[in-house]
Amino acid sequence: MTFTLSVESEKIVDELLTRYPTQRAACLPLLHLCQRQEGWVSPGVVAYVAKRLGMPTSEVTGVVTFYTMYHQQPVAPNVVWVCRTLSCDLRGGREIQKHLEKRLGCGVGGTSKDGKFSLKTAECLAACGQAPMVQINDDFHENLTLDGLDRIIDELSAKTAAAAPASGDAAQKAEPADAAARVRAKTLMGIGNS
Ligand code: FES
Repeated sequence: MTFTLSVESEKIVDELLTRYPTQRAACLPLLHLCQRQEGWVSPGVVAYVAKRLGMPTSEVTGVVTFYTMYHQQPVAPNVVWVCRTLSCDLRGGREIQKHLEKRLGCGVGGTSKDGKFSLKTAECLAACGQAPMVQINDDFHENLTLDGLDRIIDELSAKTAAAAPASGDAAQKAEPADAAARVRAKTLMGIGNS
């Protein structure tokens, strides 16, 4: 399906492109921006980014498949990344993963039946001193206990608009970015909001 970036996001792209020596150098932030709107990097997003930056779609696909932060399948509005590297593993990371699998009712790579959470694992997320930790969307949750994790999931679950039941592991498309999310996207890309 054809992907079109919102008018406001197109303005962000125009500004973004002034910050790089070549258009292709903006591939990573442009993919982030598109993923925030679409919820994942769909084939339509790949085609859009390739056309916008004058790159072959095969090169954009190569970038998308190299970096784990790009979702190659639809995901739920909340993506939970469990760190599975040494410090977290020694401090209970495996128990956290098992707890989440049971609590969400899905395995790694799957989505909860209510369509609110997708579960993934990641290698070291650079918060080893606060192990064990998980990343949920853009936020780190550190020095986790199972009770603390349950509270975080409860809060996020309450905040997330009830999504239609997922079909198998197929997740729901994320909510379109609201104003706060757009501000956050610009902040993450180092673009001012003035
Ligand atoms: S090992 Fe988990 S953040 Fe480094």
